[in-house]
Amino acid sequence: MRIGVLTAGGDAPGLNAALRAIGRSVWAQSHELIGIHDGWAGLADGYRAEELTRHRLSGILGLGGTALGSIRYNLDQPAGGREQVLRVINEKLDALIAIGGDGTLAIASWLAEQGAPVVGVGKTLDNDLANTDYCIGFDSAVSVVAESLDRLHTTAASHHRVLVLETMGRATGWVATMGGLAGGADYIVIPEVPVTLTDIAEHVRRRHRQGSSFSIVVVAEGVSVESLGGPATRASETDALGREQLGSRGVGHFVSDQIAELTGFESRCTVLGYLQRGGSPTAVDRIWATRVGAAAADLVMAGRYGLMPTVRGGEVDTMPIRDAISEPHPVPEHLYRLAARFF
Ligand code: F6P
Repeated sequence: MRIGVLTAGGDAPGLNAALRAIGRSVWAQSHELIGIHDGWAGLADGYRAEELTRHRLSGILGLGGTALGSIRYNLDQPAGGREQVLRVINEKLDALIAIGGDGTLAIASWLAEQGAPVVGVGKTLDNDLANTDYCIGFDSAVSVVAESLDRLHTTAASHHRVLVLETMGRATGWVATMGGLAGGADYIVIPEVPVTLTDIAEHVRRRHRQGSSFSIVVVAEGVSVESLGGPATRASETDALGREQLGSRGVGHFVSDQIAELTGFESRCTVLGYLQRGGSPTAVDRIWATRVGAAAADLVMAGRYGLMPTVRGGEVDTMPIRDAISEPHPVPEHLYRLAARFF
């Protein structure tokens, strides 16, 4: 078989581990692996691809990013991009493995519904795919947040300051909550749990009354300034899919300024941004990306299309691609409440 593989959407640590696992699995059965460059663009905007060899994919297990490149590409504007991808798959490939988040998997699911031989793999450091305990990149992002909070603690304590850390997380606050839990955040603001600026300021004041000389507040970028009682703000930039670039909305700076104003304490903001996406994958991401990558290759070689590997209860299982995007995957209340025990 000529099996194509692409990585689309934002990059994430662990993508290369998945590519390596797919390669090793399909080569062992004497199939060919074709790496599509830059996600869907490599199929819709000309055919940009290369045959992946063992040499090409060796030494990449611990590397962040994606060896295939990834750009955000809109297949629906202008219309016809999806149909073009369908044509190219039929012409050039016997099967395709599409690795990505909700946008990528929505396309993969549509292609499978049209009868294309497509298998998905879930990647998003936001961890907002449904019906799976694992998404490539999430664990690495959480580790970066935890390490950053350790670093912020020492400088916050030295200067008796409030330090606000803005993390990634478009629709959900997984990175903020789990990172905050791992790094001992004193307050966490996520889209799933509505709070007011008064709540945040009152909490910081209470901590200081009880003897703390500093506070660390984690804010997910997906929290809107408006939901906190601030003015309606628009991001200064949008991506190819017309989605707001949340990092430019400045919710972390807004929260930090408001804390300073309401409490009188000195407050500063750090926006973690792409540091959460770059760099080496953690061991957890290497292992699980290897497991889901190998499982995706097995699905293709068994001719089981329209499916993707999922992780449940510590084991790899299989589900229809559409199940990953059929419903939201918010942070459960009990996890947030656990993190809040330490506020
Ligand atoms: O979807 C993952 C994500 O990392 C979000 O958390 C973030 O808002 C977005 O990507 C940023 O994407 P871009 O690479 O388009 O700036």
